[in-house]
Amino acid sequence: MASSFQISALLLTFCVSISLTLPVRSQTCASQTFTNNNLYTHCLDLPTLTSYLHFTYDAANSTLSVAFFASPSKSDGWISWAINPKVAAMGGAQALVAFKDTTGVMTAKTYNISTSMPYSVVQSKLAFDVWDTRAEEESGVMRIFAKIKVPPELAATGTLHQVWQVGSSVDAAKGELTIHEMGASNLNSKGTLDLNGGKIVSSGGLDSRTKRKNIHGVLNAVSWGLLFPFGIVVARYLRTFPSADPAWFYLHVFCQVSAYAIGVAGWATGIKLGSESKGIQYSLHRNIGIALFSLATVQIFALFLRPKKDHKYRLYWNIYHHGVGYVILILGILNVFKGLDILQPGDKWRTIYIIAIAVLGGVAALLELITWIVVLRRKSSKSTKPYDGYGGQSRP
Ligand SMILES: *[C@@H]1O[C@H](CO)[C@@H](O)[C@H](O)[C@H]1NC(C)=O
Ligand SMILES: *[C@@H]1O[C@H](CO)[C@@H](O)[C@H](O)[C@H]1NC(C)=O
Repeated sequence: MASSFQISALLLTFCVSISLTLPVRSQTCASQTFTNNNLYTHCLDLPTLTSYLHFTYDAANSTLSVAFFASPSKSDGWISWAINPKVAAMGGAQALVAFKDTTGVMTAKTYNISTSMPYSVVQSKLAFDVWDTRAEEESGVMRIFAKIKVPPELAATGTLHQVWQVGSSVDAAKGELTIHEMGASNLNSKGTLDLNGGKIVSSGGLDSRTKRKNIHGVLNAVSWGLLFPFGIVVARYLRTFPSADPAWFYLHVFCQVSAYAIGVAGWATGIKLGSESKGIQYSLHRNIGIALFSLATVQIFALFLRPKKDHKYRLYWNIYHHGVGYVILILGILNVFKGLDILQPGDKWRTIYIIAIAVLGGVAALLELITWIVVLRRKSSKSTKPYDGYGGQSRP
């Protein structure tokens, strides 16, 4: 029957959308080819900023050969890979930096970063020997090559802290780099490298604030961004079919109540994050969030005030309930995009969300069409009560 087909289609869509949000991992650096790429025994897809590290470590004379690849945030920007002798952090890092010099030719320089804030980033010799430095660029990707004498205390442990970064512009004449962006990917580009095994021992770990931001993002994207819209699609299209009654109603209530529960948890994490963020205010994102929470709370309580279906005010209640529902739909999706702009979790996540919401939108458009065909047929055959567009079907 059409209705069971519709339910299956909806559930399938939902499952597909959810599975699309699972991360996919395959190593990219292994397929990168460049001059002398056979010199490097190991390669790593670094966890943030779409960066790659190819390297060889000769333990006999503690010589590390590296090739670091990344795209600067603007074409005239800079890329950097650094060793931090003390901690996996920016302060005290000994950096290799590549950018275009005043004549537009790629150049590689070394920079000493001060250990304490405010950080000074000064072109200088490093705390260890660096030689054979070279930089190049190919289709927007910059590369730094260098050989490094790993200091004895680090060579003894076989691991070292690495930090990497990209920026948007350079004062090439003065050799000054502009400050990088402060997105999560810029703040988490650090970790510990195993020189011999060629793997990342720890990715430095996301700082706890970024972790909580990610949790906030997932909770809200799932509830406001997917479950609420899904529940609206259920309510709007399934009730056209008498055989889906009252199942659609329970499915709708189930979706919206779960979405609300998850959404409230996500909302609370957001309010907490906002109150801790003294320096930066994301007023629009915050205000939309508060509006969403208020409207959804009203929707849930309105359920208890719903007049009986033959009551003369039921029509007004329906108009109100649907109106607020659509406002939540639009604001919810809008705020997921606002959140993605703030969190900058990487293009992949934005694409995944766009695909999920587009699939749901596509299914809704298809169901809209089917609904109209069914309604028009029903009207012309007059075999059943016409669809009145305001939930005239029976329901508990
Ligand atoms: C380290 O040893 C390798 C061979 O094992 C050699 O190719 C390289 O030049 C040496 N580097 C230094 C700095 O001695
Ligand atoms: C790097 O800068 C710090 C001060 O910020 C200084 O103490 C240190 O000696 C410098 N290192 C080198 C190798 O110049």
